[in-house]
Amino acid sequence: MSGALAAAWRRGTIPVGEAGAPERPARPLRPLLRPPREMPKRRAFGSPSGRVALLHALAHIELNAIDLGWDIVARFSASGLPRAFFDDWVAVAAEEAVHFGLLADRLAQFGAAYGDLPAHDGLWEAALATAGDLLSRLAVVPLVLEARGLDVTPDMILRLERVGDGESAALLRRIYRDEIGHVATGARWFARLCRERGLAPEAAFRDRVRAAFAGHLKPPFNAAAREAAGLPSAWYAGLAG
Ligand SMILES: [Fe+2]
Ligand SMILES: [Fe+2]
Repeated sequence: MSGALAAAWRRGTIPVGEAGAPERPARPLRPLLRPPREMPKRRAFGSPSGRVALLHALAHIELNAIDLGWDIVARFSASGLPRAFFDDWVAVAAEEAVHFGLLADRLAQFGAAYGDLPAHDGLWEAALATAGDLLSRLAVVPLVLEARGLDVTPDMILRLERVGDGESAALLRRIYRDEIGHVATGARWFARLCRERGLAPEAAFRDRVRAAFAGHLKPPFNAAAREAAGLPSAWYAGLAG
């Protein structure tokens, strides 16, 4: 669905109009959504069930990421943004759908499927908290949440390799590479919109995160990957818990 819509967009058959975005995206009956504190603790990766839990949690993040990609496209369609803005986020949404598909395939190889385990609704709460302001959305979704993915993924890759699951490790490495691009897309548009509005990106980033993101940013940061994505440490260092 995401892939087909992205292809139609690339063909130029979809004009930028004034779309409305639903408050919540449609979701399958399963997984059951539970508060984050009720999530089972992630087990060690040594057992297949531990890896299924990891892959399931990541698939859930990617499903949310697909919805977040389309949400930014639809929700801010009437903001007078250039077509390039929509090109970028449609491409992100399409890539998130590829990630979801790869994780679903990997789950199937373990005899599992997305929906088998409960999941939490934390990511959509971030979407709701930033629905009214594009700079807040960019600050919190790509530049806090997706950047957090860059911080934690290399360690997951190492742990998967250590238990001999090179296939899952390779899948995460591919996702990691793409996600640097998503953070880069966020940083580029955040900086550009700040410039157009006469705002200093560094201060604007801190203001938006403080206002719209509950809690502190968790170090240690993957400063090298963040830097590669155009997210300088000066923006986020002061927000660490
Ligand atoms: Fe992704
Ligand atoms: Fe992403």
